[in-house]
Amino acid sequence: MSIPLHAGTENCVGPEKGEITPAFEKQSDELVSRYPVSKRSAVLPLLHLWQETFGYIGPRGVEWIAKKLSLQEIQVLELVTFYPWFRQKPYGKFHFRVCRTLPCALGGAGKTFAALQKLMNLKSDGHEGAMVSEDGRFSLEYSECLASCGTAPVVLRNDEFYEKVDEKRASDLVTGCR
Ligand code: FES
Repeated sequence: MSIPLHAGTENCVGPEKGEITPAFEKQSDELVSRYPVSKRSAVLPLLHLWQETFGYIGPRGVEWIAKKLSLQEIQVLELVTFYPWFRQKPYGKFHFRVCRTLPCALGGAGKTFAALQKLMNLKSDGHEGAMVSEDGRFSLEYSECLASCGTAPVVLRNDEFYEKVDEKRASDLVTGCR
């Protein structure tokens, strides 16, 4: 039985575009083959692969992975909505995460976040989760501890890590995006 996707999909922008290529099929089959006892265990690796390939995990990805692993769609969707790393909409070319856990919060993460939001001209839609600029260049969200609490506030720009990011440094990070 297939459960319709609705709960937890309010951040989703709709089905992902792009072809499921033979190379993608081959890669996913290879991942599944690593779990001969229970192919269900391949669900997280497949979610990572899907997100890397299509940019986010929308209803198409949830449906495809569920079918591949003989799972209910809700079993896949609950992972997408549980783990902050997975996203239900495309992020900007430059995606910023600002740590908001206590040491960073006390170190000024709120001011850093507000400065980034202003510089990127982002407006909150009232939902928890990433804000994305209209041109798709920037996106911004809070994260939990990024494991460098002694150098708060900490920011990730895509995969690059920045420490002690005050408002001035935040400005440099945005203007340095090319
Ligand atoms: S609290 Fe921000 S890095 Fe740990």
